[in-house]
Amino acid sequence: MDKFYVTTPIYYVNDVPHIGHAYSTIIADTIARYHRLNGAETYFMTGTDEHGQKIEQAAANKGKSPKQYADEISAKFKELWDEFEISYDYFIRTTDESHKLTAQLAFEKMYEKGDIYKGEYEGFYCVSCETFFTQTQLLDGGCCPDCGRPTTVVKEESYFFALSKYEDALLKWYEENDECIVPKGKKNEVVSFVKGGLKDLSITRTSFDWGVKLPKSLNEPKHVMYVWLDALINYLTTLGYAQNDAKMRFWDYTTHIVGKDILRFHAVYWPAFLLSLGLPLPKRIAAHGWWTKDGEKMSKSKGNVVNPHLAAQTYGLEAFRYFLLREVPFGQDGDFSERALVERINSELANGLGNLLSRTVGMSAKYSDYEIKQSGARELYNAELNEAKTHINAALSSLEGLSTNRYLEEIFKIVALANTAIAKYEPWNLIKQGEKDKANALVALCANLLSRIALLLAPAMPRTADKIATTLGFSIDTNSFNRLILKDELISFKASQTAALFEKVEDKQAFSPATTVQAEPQNEEQADEISIDEFAKCLIKAGTVLECEAVEGSEKLLKFKIDLGEKEPRQILSGIAKYYTPNELIGKQVCVLANLKPRKIMKQLSQGMILSAKDDDGKLTLLSTPTKVQNGAIIG
Ligand code: ME8
Ligand code: MG
Repeated sequence: MDKFYVTTPIYYVNDVPHIGHAYSTIIADTIARYHRLNGAETYFMTGTDEHGQKIEQAAANKGKSPKQYADEISAKFKELWDEFEISYDYFIRTTDESHKLTAQLAFEKMYEKGDIYKGEYEGFYCVSCETFFTQTQLLDGGCCPDCGRPTTVVKEESYFFALSKYEDALLKWYEENDECIVPKGKKNEVVSFVKGGLKDLSITRTSFDWGVKLPKSLNEPKHVMYVWLDALINYLTTLGYAQNDAKMRFWDYTTHIVGKDILRFHAVYWPAFLLSLGLPLPKRIAAHGWWTKDGEKMSKSKGNVVNPHLAAQTYGLEAFRYFLLREVPFGQDGDFSERALVERINSELANGLGNLLSRTVGMSAKYSDYEIKQSGARELYNAELNEAKTHINAALSSLEGLSTNRYLEEIFKIVALANTAIAKYEPWNLIKQGEKDKANALVALCANLLSRIALLLAPAMPRTADKIATTLGFSIDTNSFNRLILKDELISFKASQTAALFEKVEDKQAFSPATTVQAEPQNEEQADEISIDEFAKCLIKAGTVLECEAVEGSEKLLKFKIDLGEKEPRQILSGIAKYYTPNELIGKQVCVLANLKPRKIMKQLSQGMILSAKDDDGKLTLLSTPTKVQNGAIIG
């Protein structure tokens, strides 16, 4: 029997779950459900990452012990996944005793292998990213190249892992295993990073306590493990590596789902640790892109973080899952906008799929008292069935390749195909013309297409699939999957009356403040009123757009060079590509928040923010002064 092991990242407990976490987990859930339905023995894990300086600090800020704090937040993740009916088999916490033992065992093995040695680390550390950097990697002002926050200087005794020793073995692995890292573009980045040369990795810390202790045999009570070493080993703890558990049979079938932000840890450090442990390497490490909200990076202080619980509560869990999987190609960044979500609910789910079900059931009620007999469907509608088969195959291979958007697109081509067949053959006229058999066969065609749609859709939208199956009187299981999807059998149904699958969402309902899906700003400074001194901190300047171009790989971003009356033009990225083409903006004068901390967006430095206003129907306009002013003029 086929096997499949899929993992999500284990999430840090310094923050409550947000849409990004939900995205990783929903992708993993979808492919776990798919492999189960397809008959593979499947194991799916998720969990929380609870050690390290970042968590120690977050707990201290709340006046709690790290463990107490971790208990609370870890429970929030688990509650959310349970509310979302995530079909995980195991929820790991890195504070579990079994995990600490596994991490120590792995450390000991790598040490005995001669891959771990003692030295002194000198360099920079970003607590937020839990990552070491050298001086040359830092941004101006000593800030972290990944998140832009200040780093701290670290000089301490440390154990190192001999990462450099594995450079060639890693390059060989990438070379020989085309699909070991997907998408391709991300794999290329990893390969060139490794080709650039690997330095040995500091894997213990002495300056704080909240971590897994080193194995007793080393007698180093001052040291705790680097949180990323501890964290990555979780994937083995889950399978009972230390106990030689039978679950280790899944190891050879591993798919790691990760966000692009943590690909390097999974695609470079993790395989090197596994090589040191003498274990097979994962089959696939799949990196997805990042979500923004209405074109902007989500952040707690901006208060624009999408809360997945509220989003699912407002729009329905199934629609939320559908949107996340459908909106962006795997690996690319995506933008969460309620308008786009509502559009998809109304047109694709309610009009497309919902109508198909209600029309099919309605016709069966009228023509045959809900008895849907398959006789004649193959003979009369072979072309439609063949076309559907092409889409079914494309949907399956897309899902296996994690192209969740193409997978759903192909399913919705079958929805369109069935709706078009109804419009084309006009069964109501067939009935009038006395061609009852043809009309009944058309209903059978629609019901068979719907049952295929439901089986294909089940991994992504399990409740919807179940509703369709209940209405038509069949069940979503491996047996049906084999017969209808793999063997393309036609079956007969006994349907029953049903409520609408999806309610349309009215604009007003969706965009009233009462249903906002964003978290409240979590920063005290975001109180309603500010003092004049606080406002004075904002340096807003007028500037002229010298250059403007689209950013490769992003549908939302434009990259600007803006003359703010300074020596050099500023580079600024802005998520407004939906509203303006680059050419209309060149030469325009705009207003820029000039003293915003520089940050990296899609690897490019953005040094400021262009101000804009949005009207009620979401249309965005850039601000400027009514008449031109000198570039660099201060606005205030
Ligand atoms: O990195 N869009 O945990 P973490 C899409 N503990 N996905 C996002 C996202 C966004 N805006 N923000 C976060 C850690 N994610 C480590 C992992 S694994 C051994 C240890 C998702 O809580 C994405 O999958 O910071 C990212 O990789 C993960 O959340 C990071 O979660
Ligand atoms: Mg993170």
